[in-house]
Amino acid sequence: MRTLFRPQPPPPAGTTSEALEVSHVALGHPSSRTGEILLAVHDLDFTVARGEFVVIVGPSGCGKTTLLEALAGLVPVHDGTIRLAGRELRGPGTDRSLVFQNASLYPWRDVVANVEFGLQAQRRLDAAGKARAREMIRLVGLEKAERKFPHELSGGMKQRVNLARALVTDPSVLLLDEPFGALDAQTREVMQNELVRVWQAEGAAVRRTAVFVTHDVGEAVFLADRILVFSPSPATIRADIRVDAPRPRAPEWKRSPEFTAIGDRVLAGLAAS
Ligand SMILES: Nc1ncnc2c1ncn2[C@@H]1O[C@H](COP(=O)(O)OP(=O)(O)O)[C@@H](O)[C@H]1O
Ligand SMILES: [Mg+2]
Repeated sequence: MRTLFRPQPPPPAGTTSEALEVSHVALGHPSSRTGEILLAVHDLDFTVARGEFVVIVGPSGCGKTTLLEALAGLVPVHDGTIRLAGRELRGPGTDRSLVFQNASLYPWRDVVANVEFGLQAQRRLDAAGKARAREMIRLVGLEKAERKFPHELSGGMKQRVNLARALVTDPSVLLLDEPFGALDAQTREVMQNELVRVWQAEGAAVRRTAVFVTHDVGEAVFLADRILVFSPSPATIRADIRVDAPRPRAPEWKRSPEFTAIGDRVLAGLAAS
């Protein structure tokens, strides 16, 4: 008998069909001298489950930004594949948003217009889009500043705008490249708590996946469901550490033996040669 419909193959073991799958990926940049590709990331292999909050830690220059840019579809994949929900990623898409270390806000647009820009760029700024922009501004706690311009905002407020702008398009994957790296220690701590609060406020129904890059070990342990420790360039994964502590995690948890023990494992991964 002839089968008319082939059943969908089951997802590979240990993954779900909605996972972000990085398989044997090599990434690099062309040398300005010879044009030859200098690898920043080599044979990288990991899977992020839908809704998981993964933090990547690694030494400066190991290829973290290059990886996030590849996940965002902004740099080509030299070798291997990146798949989201089973589909190979070959360029930017509305299913992913990237948040940079420096909030690249438009100085001539106020908070509302900066947040709305994410939708406008995708031609989705209708009445529902405008309502969602307001909702995201409220979610990040900026409703009182929504008519202010970037020069009137503190560093932490700018990163709240950046986060709202990334979330407004409702991406299934949020990519964050050292988003709090330029903030002072106290503001940074506030923003870590805020990010977790926003994450939880969005609720289990949204199940957004996050890939967050930092070189701050404490920030990694506090935020992560799972930490991937990268080796120096060309980066490979040195350690894959699960952080099972329940959320919300109180700031005091940072002084617990459990927190310290996980941080020590990350440091050991970073130090291994
Ligand atoms: N646009 C580029 N052109 C050429 N080389 C680059 C470019 N961006 C990054 N690199 C190189 O790729 C490597 C990884 O850089 P990057 O991904 O920025 O590391 P990280 O974010 O971990 O600090 C470094 O050796 C860096 O010099
Ligand atoms: Mg970087």
